[in-house]
Amino acid sequence: MTDKTLIELTGQQTQLIVELGEYAEILHWGQKVSGDLNGFRMALHRPVPYGRLDSDVSMTLHPELGRGVFSSPGVEGHRDGQDWAPVFVISHIEQQQDSIVIESEDAIAGLRLQTELKLDSNDVVKTRHTLTNKKAGVYHVNRLANTLPLPARANELMTYYGRWVHEFQTVRQPLLQGGYQQENRRGRTSHEHYPALVAGTTHFDEMNGDVWGFHFAWSGNHRLRVDVKADGRRYMQAEVIYLPGEVALKEGESITTPWLYASHSNCGLNGMSHHFHSHVRETILPSDFTDKPRPIHLNTWEGIYFDHDPEYIMSMATQSAEMGVERFIIDDGWFKGRNGDKAGLGDWFLCEAKYPNGLHPIVEHVNKLGMEFGLWFEPEMINKDSELFRTHPDWLLAVNGYDQPTGRNQYVINLQNDEAFNFLFERLDHFLSTYNIAYIKWDMNREVVQPAHLGQAAAHNQTQRYYQLVDKVREKHPKVEIESCAAGGGRIDFEVLKRTHRFWASDNNDALERQTIQRGMSYFFPPEVMGSHIGASHCHSTRRRHSIEFRGLTALFGHMGIELDPVKEEQAEKEGFERYIKLHKMLRPLLHSGRTWRIPTDDKAHQIHAVVSNDQSEAVVMIAQLAMPTNSLSGHLRVPGLDPQATYRVTVLDKPSNYDDIVNYQPPWTESGCELSGAWCEEVGLTMPILDAESAMLVKFERIH
Ligand code: GLA
Repeated sequence: MTDKTLIELTGQQTQLIVELGEYAEILHWGQKVSGDLNGFRMALHRPVPYGRLDSDVSMTLHPELGRGVFSSPGVEGHRDGQDWAPVFVISHIEQQQDSIVIESEDAIAGLRLQTELKLDSNDVVKTRHTLTNKKAGVYHVNRLANTLPLPARANELMTYYGRWVHEFQTVRQPLLQGGYQQENRRGRTSHEHYPALVAGTTHFDEMNGDVWGFHFAWSGNHRLRVDVKADGRRYMQAEVIYLPGEVALKEGESITTPWLYASHSNCGLNGMSHHFHSHVRETILPSDFTDKPRPIHLNTWEGIYFDHDPEYIMSMATQSAEMGVERFIIDDGWFKGRNGDKAGLGDWFLCEAKYPNGLHPIVEHVNKLGMEFGLWFEPEMINKDSELFRTHPDWLLAVNGYDQPTGRNQYVINLQNDEAFNFLFERLDHFLSTYNIAYIKWDMNREVVQPAHLGQAAAHNQTQRYYQLVDKVREKHPKVEIESCAAGGGRIDFEVLKRTHRFWASDNNDALERQTIQRGMSYFFPPEVMGSHIGASHCHSTRRRHSIEFRGLTALFGHMGIELDPVKEEQAEKEGFERYIKLHKMLRPLLHSGRTWRIPTDDKAHQIHAVVSNDQSEAVVMIAQLAMPTNSLSGHLRVPGLDPQATYRVTVLDKPSNYDDIVNYQPPWTESGCELSGAWCEEVGLTMPILDAESAMLVKFERIH
């Protein structure tokens, strides 16, 4: 016991106590407590019961079977059937203020493992491993997992599920013996298995409970596991799923895992989100863009689909500028052979039949109107009905000799083929160098079924080549912003966000559905990276109809845009777009820098979402009525995060047009406003108004003294 040392890493609120001897073990990860490390050691060491191994077995950062850890190992592999149960011993430790890097060796197996562990000032932990083959012969790596411990009181989970047009759905479940596991084999981050989860104490909620949130930053196949060991200890593990034979390290070669990000809060889910949001803003997002106000988009997709006529598109741009739009984007349908979703992908040449005068007149028109110009691409994809496929059928990502199902009539290009990679870079570079393009939407509309290169499994490398392609484009065109889209929210994770600027959260622009999708996304991402558009009143993906007020307020709480054909809209709708664009511009500095609060409600039919400025001088709150209220009166709106000592002026900024007609009368504060202390707003609150299902209201809090 005594030849071990304890070190601690501390954030603002979080503490990691790590014991280092032959191996590293996290003894405590939770709320920061000051005190004597030796006392901590005495307090944290475990008893050893009868009926199992005679000594204590540690849950290290890479569980090892050879040390008697009967859990999912951190490293699994072999060298021609040998060296399959490595046991690593620490050889070197480098400690800095906020991180430790641990080098461990297994001299027999000829392997070195480097483990990085960091806790930053936003209370976000990140960890990853690098495994190196140090011996002659090929070391086949089956698994390399990141493992973090959870305390025994973490006994509930919030996990994610979803599908196309239904992303970021959350579900609660107890964490029992047997644990939880999710596997994603779709070759992209996926709609179905967003790579994150939250573990917490019984009944943890938005405001209460200890929670430990995890996000695995990888845009391909992954496995997440939360396991309860037979002795009651528990841990979270995240790893890339390596397909058979795909990681084979020659002597001297290494493989590095993606980063696993994690954060603890003892103030429930809101506290956890505050950590992740600050971390994303300060550390993940490309730094050169964080201060720029995010321009309001007009995206042509749901307005005209594949029906492109330059004159008409220019009239759309004119109308957009009149409404206050700041960036005009031509979506799918502009390139050769692309008249529907069955052909053309891969032929990244302007369709001269549709654009006989080229793209310049449109870009210039858009720029003259004071807007930026953006263009859609789906670089990794190919239709068999394309010149590219006819010339290079061998560029397909496929296992030769087998058929594979299409997705949206298309196939994936093998980015590991250098010629294909260079062709795609050249095409993107051509457009970005030729036209004044400020933004591209980088789409990926199908899943990966046969990720092979030269016959061998190559899913991991395909994802890395995708990162390299984006990086290469960014390096040459650092000012161009990129939106990551994959049929909506199929590629949303921290690793993509290091090289892109926003996400298309969903192809579903139905405001009611968006309320849930955006909420699910808000646990890990701040609002400014979430593309959120006002769609047509008759929603294309659900066929529901919603008022402009409900659509406007729902889109307000992200990076806002409009996605329809403004030319065809009626005057009342246009006035609505203009109104919400103005509102967004006014509130944008607050929305895109403040603290998000998901406010608990007494009735599930409501969803309340707030953003409070960092200096607590203002806040904006959206009350969304998702369904019929359960009772005729709905309790109180209580707003956390304001300065308890300060006085705030409360005013309604926006409400449904029928607001006063649906009841005898509404709460007086919603008519004439009122002044209240921050403490009152948090502790007692304001009587909830009565709203129809599928409508919303916006309330502003401004500090007056
Ligand atoms: C995907 C995207 C949409 C749109 C279409 C174009 O579905 O998610 O927003 O760009 O592709 O084909």
